[in-house]
Amino acid sequence: MAIKGLRETVKKALDKHNNDKSLLVDILQDVQATIGYLPKAALVETGKQLGVPISRVYSVATFFKAFSLTKRGRHLINVCMGTACHVRGAVKVLEQIEQELKIKRGGTTRDLKFTLETVNCVGACALGPMVIIGEDYHGEMTPEGIISVLKQYN
Ligand code: FES
Repeated sequence: MAIKGLRETVKKALDKHNNDKSLLVDILQDVQATIGYLPKAALVETGKQLGVPISRVYSVATFFKAFSLTKRGRHLINVCMGTACHVRGAVKVLEQIEQELKIKRGGTTRDLKFTLETVNCVGACALGPMVIIGEDYHGEMTPEGIISVLKQYN
């Protein structure tokens, strides 16, 4: 995003929240919703316009898991690595996804289709291994099964 567009995006988020420094989380949420993630330039611009030190903006942006400082894919894949899923073969499912998408845990595919992450227990242990893609829960996943599941996403 060009710097001009970035300035306007940040200004719009600040206007919406009356330049209230205590609403930094909400402001960053709006900026991320527009850009898709929080590039360093967006953090710097937010700090500048709001009059908050960049160190503070950065610590808020890195503290909350909902914020991403790198580009993310359209679909977020979360492979559950909790104990129950682990003993049921989650590692093999994760490895299959990494191989299929040619990315490692924490990575995003070049075409920005998928971002791959792991979580610890999503409360559906009896159905493990669990793979969550966006809002969809896929249970009893196998390395073979995950390939056809991934094909369902555009
Ligand atoms: S360990 Fe995976 S859902 Fe509980």
